[in-house]
Amino acid sequence: MAERVVLAYSGGLDTSVGIGWLRDATGKEVVALAVDVGQGGESMDDIRQRALDCGAVESVVVDAKEEFANDFLMPALKANALYQKRYPLVSALSRPLIARHLARVARELGADSVAHGCTGKGNDQVRFEAAVAALAPELTSIAPVRDLALTRDKAIVYAEEHGLPIKQSKKNPYSIDKNVWGRAVETGFLEDPWNAPIEDLYEYTQDPADPKPADEVTITFQAGVPVAIDGTAVTPLEAVQRLNGLAGRHGVGRIDIVEDRLVGIKSREVYEAPAALALIAAHEELENLTMERDLNRFKRGVEATWAELVYDGLWFSALKRSLDVFVDDTQRHVSGDIRLTLQGGRAVVTGRRSEESLYDFDLATYDTGDTFDQSLSKGFIELWSLPSKISARRDLAHG
Ligand code: ARG
Repeated sequence: MAERVVLAYSGGLDTSVGIGWLRDATGKEVVALAVDVGQGGESMDDIRQRALDCGAVESVVVDAKEEFANDFLMPALKANALYQKRYPLVSALSRPLIARHLARVARELGADSVAHGCTGKGNDQVRFEAAVAALAPELTSIAPVRDLALTRDKAIVYAEEHGLPIKQSKKNPYSIDKNVWGRAVETGFLEDPWNAPIEDLYEYTQDPADPKPADEVTITFQAGVPVAIDGTAVTPLEAVQRLNGLAGRHGVGRIDIVEDRLVGIKSREVYEAPAALALIAAHEELENLTMERDLNRFKRGVEATWAELVYDGLWFSALKRSLDVFVDDTQRHVSGDIRLTLQGGRAVVTGRRSEESLYDFDLATYDTGDTFDQSLSKGFIELWSLPSKISARRDLAHG
């Protein structure tokens, strides 16, 4: 029996040509795997059929939207995960999920390798291959664009010569990756980091400068996960989809950043992630209300590490696994309601309440009813600053 390779298939030009290209270069049968992570666009049935028309021996499609929301987006939300404090890891979160399906299908269909359409310059190649290595160390990874010299020009010629059913729409100057957590746009005129993004780039968000009356939305969380929006119960996927609509209308979640790639390149990236940024803003504030001070402070450091690990393709790593246990444990009291006001590109928290709140009005108030004994502060500060005072005396004496 011929050897087999499972290719992560998007339906686009590169991976469509990649099917025949891989077969010709390696002699392996190619199985196409398309994973729906909420990227929208074409029907998965059309994509499945196109892979067969391009020469795949089998074509598998997986609707992984719920799995993506439950197993990848909710952990990211619990971790308030923002790389470089701003990027909600849109692409970085989908790669380990796709890799998990690649490894599963490879084992089920007796393949010895997997393949993906990434170039050799980005993070996504690392994420696919590092995840596959961690899940199925017996598999090898092949990247036709990177390893088998499949350039875009050659792909166009190959598609024409072989009559592949790919409509070569007018050349899209951007490289776009999208899923239900957001959209990433790079290359084209954006490669000059001085060039401002144009309105045309955006799909999930409307122009935040376009004046609209503000909207309010109340998100209910249970143990760190959104369970209702404006009182209506939602699944994690529904919460993300609803908020993409509500926050996207107000232009929430546009990000323009020069980013440090794992491969050492600085790249200019434009993202839009309305639900992600609205949810993280809400979730983080609910933590401020319900989480004990030292835990809250310590967790903010863990969050940065978590985001870097995931950005760097280490979703299935020992450290990430242990941090997840920590993050999960921090969420036990993160339940309650957050009210957001959406307007002009911003999702602003304007109200918070929780049965498990640590906010004590009687301690916080400056009005009558104050139960905080201010006289205790005097001695507290005396002892708190004692080490500073002692060392300051020593420094004065000894220079
Ligand atoms: N720079 C982002 C990241 O590494 C986005 C990558 C988008 N991928 C793509 N093939 N356009 O997560």
